[in-house]
Amino acid sequence: MQYNESEFLIETVIPQDELIISRTDLNGFITYANETFCEISGYSQEELIGKAHNILRHPDMPSSVYADLWQSIKNKKQWSGVVKNLRKDKGHYWIKAMISGVYKNGELVEYKSLRTPISFDEKLVHQKLYDKMRQENGEKQRKITYK
Ligand SMILES: Cc1cc2nc3c(=O)[nH]c(=O)nc-3n(C[C@H](O)[C@H](O)[C@H](O)COP(=O)(O)O)c2cc1C
Repeated sequence: MQYNESEFLIETVIPQDELIISRTDLNGFITYANETFCEISGYSQEELIGKAHNILRHPDMPSSVYADLWQSIKNKKQWSGVVKNLRKDKGHYWIKAMISGVYKNGELVEYKSLRTPISFDEKLVHQKLYDKMRQENGEKQRKITYK
């Protein structure tokens, strides 16, 4: 039987009733992180504020997902998608993210993201989809080594 190596990596499962919230400036630098975000990502608030949001980027994520995200939000559209994020301890967690603009007097001043848990089936579907997308785009393939 063949196993997908990712099945052996440590996943943090997000409780159903939790909402992970963050805000960034217009360049994607974190300006706010709620307590749940800190707990799930393994970072403290001090470690997150002021950092680029790609601090969480997991190597399994194809870059085209983020290109699509930025194109949408720069055009003032809401973006929604499934994201695998990297924890500080190199574990991971899966979420569905909804990202959109924060407006003050009609002017776009920040971006906000609300994230909710997804089902096991959705995680499997997206792991396979993102593996395929990275392969098709010639992006680095996942390589996991055990010491
Ligand atoms: C409000 C907001 C939330 C974001 N949340 C995440 C996130 O949870 N994980 C992530 O990898 N990128 C997130 N991004 C996208 C990052 O800014 C970045 O584009 C992505 O990590 C890819 O990194 P790169 O652009 O340096 O390749 C978010 C962006 C915004 C504006």
